[in-house]
Amino acid sequence: MTNSSTTIRWEQDDTGVVTLVLDDPHQSANTMNQAFRASVKAIADRAEAEKDSIRGIIYTSAKKTFFAGGDLKDMIQAGPEHAQHAFDTGMDIKNSLRRIETLGKPVVAAVNGAALGGGYEIALASHHRVALDAPGSKIGLPEVTLGLLPAGGGVTRTVRLMGIADALLKVLLRGTQYSPRRALENGLVDEVAATPEEMLAKARAFIDANPESHQPWDKLGYRIPGGTPANPKFAANLPAFPAGLKKQLNGAPYPAPRNILAAAVEGSQVDFETALTIEARYFTELVTGQTAKNMIQAFFFDLQAVNSGANRPQGIEPRQVRRVAVLGAGMMGAGIAYSCARAGIEVVLKDVSAEAAAKGKGYSEKLCAKAVSRGRTTREKADALLARITPTAEVADLAGCDAVIEAVFEDSALKHKVFQEVQDVVAPDAVLCSNTSTLPITALAEGVERQEDFVGLHFFSPVDKMPLVEIIRGRRTGDEALARAFDLVRQIRKTPIVVNDSRGFFTSRVIGQFINEGVAMVGEGIEPASVEQAAGQAGYPAKVLSLMDELTLTLPRKIRDESRRAVEEAGGVWAPHPAEAVIDRMVEEFGRTGRGGGAGFYDYAPDGSRGKLWPGLRDHFTQRGYQIPFEDMKERMLFSEALDTVRLMEEGVLTSVADANIGSLLGIGFPGWTGGVLQYINGYRGGLPGFVARARELAERYGERFAPPALLVEKADRGERFTDA
Ligand code: NAI
Repeated sequence: MTNSSTTIRWEQDDTGVVTLVLDDPHQSANTMNQAFRASVKAIADRAEAEKDSIRGIIYTSAKKTFFAGGDLKDMIQAGPEHAQHAFDTGMDIKNSLRRIETLGKPVVAAVNGAALGGGYEIALASHHRVALDAPGSKIGLPEVTLGLLPAGGGVTRTVRLMGIADALLKVLLRGTQYSPRRALENGLVDEVAATPEEMLAKARAFIDANPESHQPWDKLGYRIPGGTPANPKFAANLPAFPAGLKKQLNGAPYPAPRNILAAAVEGSQVDFETALTIEARYFTELVTGQTAKNMIQAFFFDLQAVNSGANRPQGIEPRQVRRVAVLGAGMMGAGIAYSCARAGIEVVLKDVSAEAAAKGKGYSEKLCAKAVSRGRTTREKADALLARITPTAEVADLAGCDAVIEAVFEDSALKHKVFQEVQDVVAPDAVLCSNTSTLPITALAEGVERQEDFVGLHFFSPVDKMPLVEIIRGRRTGDEALARAFDLVRQIRKTPIVVNDSRGFFTSRVIGQFINEGVAMVGEGIEPASVEQAAGQAGYPAKVLSLMDELTLTLPRKIRDESRRAVEEAGGVWAPHPAEAVIDRMVEEFGRTGRGGGAGFYDYAPDGSRGKLWPGLRDHFTQRGYQIPFEDMKERMLFSEALDTVRLMEEGVLTSVADANIGSLLGIGFPGWTGGVLQYINGYRGGLPGFVARARELAERYGERFAPPALLVEKADRGERFTDA
């Protein structure tokens, strides 16, 4: 017997087992949209009406993913005026799931694919969870990573299933996505099955063995595992949670973790139904606020646009690289070799000597050994990965490579030389990529014969961890090379942004503004410790002065000298940034060049570990008692990056808003709560006009570099925002 309701199919067999097949006919994946809301209500009504003929219920999905979660398109629209609607919708779905959960019949989730967010919440509303061990399948509640909390009962049920501490730490606060096996180990599911048949058989076996089934929390005498704040022993530990959270957030303005903590703790002290209401209230506050909109825009919509190739040249057949030549086996080359080999690509890793090349491969050996010891891969897989990397000092070994990634020292003459050596040895149509971090691509391309095949491929350090690659189109780079660079980045499962050539491209130039602003504040006489604190509270993952030390103080001097020469050669006048004088004094007067040199804005122990801020900063720079508003300090850093990004849009270096947002978030640590550099402007209080007004205020107080560029002012005047649509 089947009955087609909107998104859930009711299939009942002659033994009385009802399979509820999640299958939204209008979408590629199931989501908690309005149709689902009506559908799950109809199902609950029917289940109650036909209760006597039902022996048990199985949730499963007709799609490859079990359930994709909440409808983010809806959520991103939800302003404060939608608060009541958001609250009611959530409560409606929860009440329906609750009615099925408390029918008195066994309910099993047969999780046949990814169950993230709403999908896992349906599984939580079941008495038993069997997950199919499908490759790539993920289970968890990642809402926090979008600035939200799981409000389909996710907070209330995980707290009751595993206790407050585990629910917060393993599931809710980090939004960890588990493979089915790891979900089993961590108590998110009860069983794992190798095949769909086995999964359904296990679901039926549970129904047969438990003709009357209830959730643990609906049984008499149930207590939350590990206790609640009502228990004095637990209460003694409770203050550690907010403290831990404060440390994790570093003062940055992320409302979701705070609301999750509050919903979990408050909800644990009341009955189940009241806890659901508390959870809904905290969710409503988040979904109608700005941070969730920023994070959904960036980490869902922009990321999807970028990865799906919105900025890849159209009409060019996708191609896979089989064999890549990596030139230079230093820090970057070694990491690039590992990332390529991990994705199944044959790698020829070349350096000046066999020893240097072998040392580069040694980096992969270390990473593999670590992955095996942590159980993240098997010895066989690690060996296969390593077998794909051939270290060499011989150019002849590069024969047949269909891509080249150059990562030798940052020196144009050397880069020209190595491309000359290899261009006739590799495949005649091999794409030629340089990982330069500062040298303009157009000029580098002049060193090769096939300039149209030459493209910048800017990786970030450490390569194996950093998800972003910045692709740089030189003046003569062809669409074919650009598309192939894009495909290569996707092949190694990284996220590509595409920019036009310019000094420092997008990422290096914009992060330079952040660092300069921090250094300039030290130069004005502000306490260096306050500057560091302001960076943390703005949400930056790295403190600004410590970051300067990591990059070394000699690097901005070198870049500045080259940039100044270029400006002057073009007949312009160089306008120095106030940071330059501070950096010059640090290097010339005090010999402090950064971490590599053993001393910078911080002191370093002989083993390289970071000590305290250098006390000399206070003697030589700080004006005692001088302070500016903390808000100004934070916004000077954020605005310096956002404003320079707008200038890069004006200059045509950046052509996509999504690329700007994603590049800033994944490449250079622009704070996640903003949704990226341009979304930060969109979401600023008062929108673009509010941002323009504030930029003018900062310009008046701190210098013309904060004056809003024309593009920004025009957009603000026209009532527009930054969007690719
Ligand atoms: P590195 O100094 O660690 O490695 C450079 C390697 O190139 C050395 O192993 C050297 O022996 C080798 N080499 C020199 N001449 C060679 C030749 N003729 N043939 C083959 N190999 C040769 O430098 P690192 O940090 O790996 O940087 C490499 C490139 O990547 C530079 O262009 C740098 O600007 C760029 N880059 C660096 C980043 C970083 O964070 N270090 C980030 C992004 C790009």
